[in-house]
Amino acid sequence: MQNSSKVPEITVIGSNMMDLITYMERLPEPGETIEAPDFELGFGGKGANQAVAAALLGAEVNMVTRVGEDLFGDEVIKNFQDYGINTEKIEKIAGESSGVAPIFVDPQGENRIFIIKGANNYLTPEAVREAEELIAESDLVLFQLEIALDSVYEAIALADHYETASILNPAPMNKDLQPAGLEGLDFFIPNETELAAFTGSSDLAGDDIKRSAETLLSRGIKTVIVTLGSEGSCIVDQSGERAVPAPEVEPVDTTGAGDAFIGSLAVFSQQETDLDKAVSRANQYAALSTLERGTQKSYLSREDFFARLNQKHWRC
Ligand code: RIB
Repeated sequence: MQNSSKVPEITVIGSNMMDLITYMERLPEPGETIEAPDFELGFGGKGANQAVAAALLGAEVNMVTRVGEDLFGDEVIKNFQDYGINTEKIEKIAGESSGVAPIFVDPQGENRIFIIKGANNYLTPEAVREAEELIAESDLVLFQLEIALDSVYEAIALADHYETASILNPAPMNKDLQPAGLEGLDFFIPNETELAAFTGSSDLAGDDIKRSAETLLSRGIKTVIVTLGSEGSCIVDQSGERAVPAPEVEPVDTTGAGDAFIGSLAVFSQQETDLDKAVSRANQYAALSTLERGTQKSYLSREDFFARLNQKHWRC
């Protein structure tokens, strides 16, 4: 970790989706049709969201992903370019549709998400190897699990080979994810449910989080950070376990808050000398993203983020 003025180069190897967001009062019963109060179309996908958060916070970002040959494909590429993200390793897949995500948000701001991966299924290990130069020159690479596991393993191995820092956000959890494929990974960042699924626990509470995370450390992962929603995050590494609280907010839409955490942590971890401080900043960035509707649309620029932190009730 270095200094706060550093402009890190970050490569994201992951998904993109078009988010079809319905704001609803309740889900319909089988056979029932009900009216929902509102709808929004937005750019999403965990990889894309994390790339956009990192770019907004000033990083130089490369996106490695696949889009379909449909009306969304060109728009998705243009959206990345509008954020100044390098799109040279994005390809269109002939005859495939772009990834889409129907999302349902309830009045408490909680979401339910379906993903239809489409062209994201074509981000193969070979496509990852084509991005080898970017992985080698980057300060950090980021992956999630909306692409094939073999591609994720390939990317982790390449990052390890070039000593580029790496973050895996195992979302959504894939039951076939193998600890052996994660050797050399710097940061494994699940939420509680994902950690429980990966470690085979039915539910996690208190000390269980620490024990489960420690199992992963013994398998070659350097740091585990468990995200706990409104309760913040828990860091488990060789120095022990620390809770990092999040600020209290009243969320309007939590969709993409996890991605805001990961994308911002990618940047802050390269700029702060202390991991706990970087995680605290990422908690703040994610919390602020829940105050607006949508995914990428709800992320703040670096300037706006630090301006918000300086507001009286946000000082801590
Ligand atoms: O994490 C939120 C994201 O999950 C949404 O943007 C949706 O596209 C799914 O990938």
